[in-house]
Amino acid sequence: MATTIEELESRRELAKQGGGQKRIDAQHAKGRLTARERLTVLLDPGSFEEYDMFVEHNCADFGMETQKFPGDGVVTGSGTINGRLTFVFAQDFTVFGGSLSERHAQKICKVMDMAMKAGAPVIGLNDSGGARIQEGVASLGGYAEVFQRNVLASGVVPQLSLIMGPCAGGAVYSPAMTDFIFMVKDSSYMFVTGPEVVKTVTNEVVTQEELGGAVTHTTKSGVADVAFENDIDALLATRDFFDFLPLSNRHDLPVRPTDDPWDRQDDSLDTLVPPSASTPYDMHELIRKIADEGDFFELQPKHAANIIIGFCRIEGRTVGVVANQPTVLAGVLDIASSKKGARFVRFCDAFEIPILTLVDVPGFLPGVAQEHNGIIKNGAKLLFAYAEATVPKITVITRKAYGGAYDVMASKHLRGDLNYAWPTAEIAVMGAKGAVEIIFRSERDNPDKIAEKTREYEERFANPFVAASKGFIDDVIMPHSTRRRVAMGLRKLRDKQLENPWKKHDNIPL
Ligand code: COA
Repeated sequence: MATTIEELESRRELAKQGGGQKRIDAQHAKGRLTARERLTVLLDPGSFEEYDMFVEHNCADFGMETQKFPGDGVVTGSGTINGRLTFVFAQDFTVFGGSLSERHAQKICKVMDMAMKAGAPVIGLNDSGGARIQEGVASLGGYAEVFQRNVLASGVVPQLSLIMGPCAGGAVYSPAMTDFIFMVKDSSYMFVTGPEVVKTVTNEVVTQEELGGAVTHTTKSGVADVAFENDIDALLATRDFFDFLPLSNRHDLPVRPTDDPWDRQDDSLDTLVPPSASTPYDMHELIRKIADEGDFFELQPKHAANIIIGFCRIEGRTVGVVANQPTVLAGVLDIASSKKGARFVRFCDAFEIPILTLVDVPGFLPGVAQEHNGIIKNGAKLLFAYAEATVPKITVITRKAYGGAYDVMASKHLRGDLNYAWPTAEIAVMGAKGAVEIIFRSERDNPDKIAEKTREYEERFANPFVAASKGFIDDVIMPHSTRRRVAMGLRKLRDKQLENPWKKHDNIPL
């Protein structure tokens, strides 16, 4: 008996060594933690239960039969984050560069299947040289098995990807289909083909970091949500982020006790909107003043910053926030911001997270590039996402809500449950100057007349009362009371029931 126990212990010890001390040291020398160290930071102490520690690859080509490492380059299992269950996999770069073999893929699939059955998120820590080259097509099959599960799990359990090393070729498509991607600066990269292939095919010279580093994907491409300085920052932020998420689409939202009074009044909001319509102000200030303890977890803060998305809590419960940002491109909707907003709205709707929409939008961005790159179909994504969403939707218009963009931003007509406006709101088909220049085209050369007509138009339309008189706005509220009104609304809507007509699935413009 004693020998059997010793054997178990020594086998476990061997598995924990991964690819051996030399490769662990090499991993540390790159400023990266090992797979197991990462899980220690991510999960509550002592909560990790590992599965498939003794799984080995089944490849007998290229001398692989003599090179076996228990676990086969990925550590999988379950654990808790602040007491709540999650399934995890962490690729171990010290074993064949974390490359994905058939068995490695089977291990990932097993935790994904368990997560779907149990109703708990999947967090993947990616650090891999891609398909296990020695295994060829078997490893490609393994990727596709993972992809299939990513799709089936989408909307059932939250899926989070942390990119903490290489992630190239086919490997990128699993994270791409998960809900959120976090990356580590100067240490992780994602691309379909690397700089050398790019040079051969298109003659472009680009570094790994420029092509697919954390900064590139969180600013230019929008592929990833947030870039962190190092592994520890990324893992600790993931713990904070996890606390906002429900465990699955059949679980209630997590509730965090708070001392922040639900009816906290903030008089500074009464002067947030500047007197001049063209002067910007930072919408983050409003979000923080509405949120419990000012806590807001922003996603994609550096990509399409003309729209803000992220999670806060009100009365302890998670709320998804979508807000136009007047300090960036005057808060206009363009292709990138429409796509960013749409995917977030769909995540919230899939997981029953109420949506708070803060509106100050001058319209859609004009321009040849926008039209040629499909602002029509891309703008429609955000419109479609809001229109199909059945979760509680509360909208507050702080200033501009012009034209088609007024309709898009969770308007009453798209089944907004509670639509409020501040007294500073201007709900109109367009800005007064533009409107007058069209209606009074014949007076174009008469600036005094144009100025007079502009004043008239402003008085008539640049306010919330025309919309309120039609019932498009439920109430015009004092800015200082916004948190109280939103909190009351969310309480009322907690048991909201609304269903869309039966369909196999919709056909959102892609
Ligand atoms: N299949 C099998 N083994 C792999 C691998 C893969 N896809 N990628 C890396 N490895 C192995 C390496 O052979 C090396 O083994 P060793 O420790 O026994 O020497 C180990 O993983 C570490 O790789 P190394 O190249 O030394 O690390 P690096 O940090 O210098 O480079 C990569 C990392 C990912 C850039 C590099 O390993 C690479 O280009 N890998 C191949 C990528 C690829 O073409 N994948 C297949 C298509 S998706």
